[in-house]
Amino acid sequence: MPPHTRPVFAANWKMNVGPTAAAAFVESFLAASPTPSNGTVILFPSALALATVRHALALRQDIRVGVQNIHAEEKGAFTGENSAIIAADAGAAYVLVGHSERRHVFGETDAETARKCARAVEHGLVPVLCVGETIEQRERGETEHVVLHQLRTGLSSLSHDAVADVIIAYEPVWAIGTGRTATPEDAAVVHRVIRAALVELVGEPGRGIPILYGGSVTPVNAAALLGADQVDGVLVGGASLDPASWAAICSAGTT
Ligand code: 13P
Repeated sequence: MPPHTRPVFAANWKMNVGPTAAAAFVESFLAASPTPSNGTVILFPSALALATVRHALALRQDIRVGVQNIHAEEKGAFTGENSAIIAADAGAAYVLVGHSERRHVFGETDAETARKCARAVEHGLVPVLCVGETIEQRERGETEHVVLHQLRTGLSSLSHDAVADVIIAYEPVWAIGTGRTATPEDAAVVHRVIRAALVELVGEPGRGIPILYGGSVTPVNAAALLGADQVDGVLVGGASLDPASWAAICSAGTT
């Protein structure tokens, strides 16, 4: 896989956009973005819409696709789950690991995120490890501690070389789907802490690991967030569901 040209624009459609809507989305998005972005564009559709999205992107190999979750085991009796092997076979190149909704709605633990990252790498998927504090943790002054714990534990089963190939997403839980975005400076403070930890972990290659910001990113605030120190891209939920809005975000910060 070619390296991730920055900025990285990642769209997490969550449990929205079925195959029919996904095909229409891609058609509209490609019409609005007829030439490849100067950065890296990644779509995370529902696993059931992945094949449709890949098919619709056949002429635009510059746009990459991933899945929103995998199970930590390779295979077996896990009804309803998808493995890294299945995701890779279906054409996914990336996987979101430890998204706030996986942690807080589905009770995913740090230990599971570590196993999922390891499994992803084993099968050639790039893990996008998501970290972020709740509002209560932020108000108690625990942001740095929480984020670093999630980061170090999530990456703990990977070799140094593998860590250098991951993507990190900082998504403060209080900013997700709330319309309450971190300011560029709020984001920069945490991104600097994450960068320092990555460099401590793997040395100089840690500077090349993209760190994305997520949480109520819109076409209006994307450029300012992308201009913040150590913010290498964005991970977008709600505002990625509309092709025009997503196209506007993908052109922010690249000129
Ligand atoms: P919103 O952009 O809807 O706040 O969601 C962010 C997110 O969770 C992306 O993974």
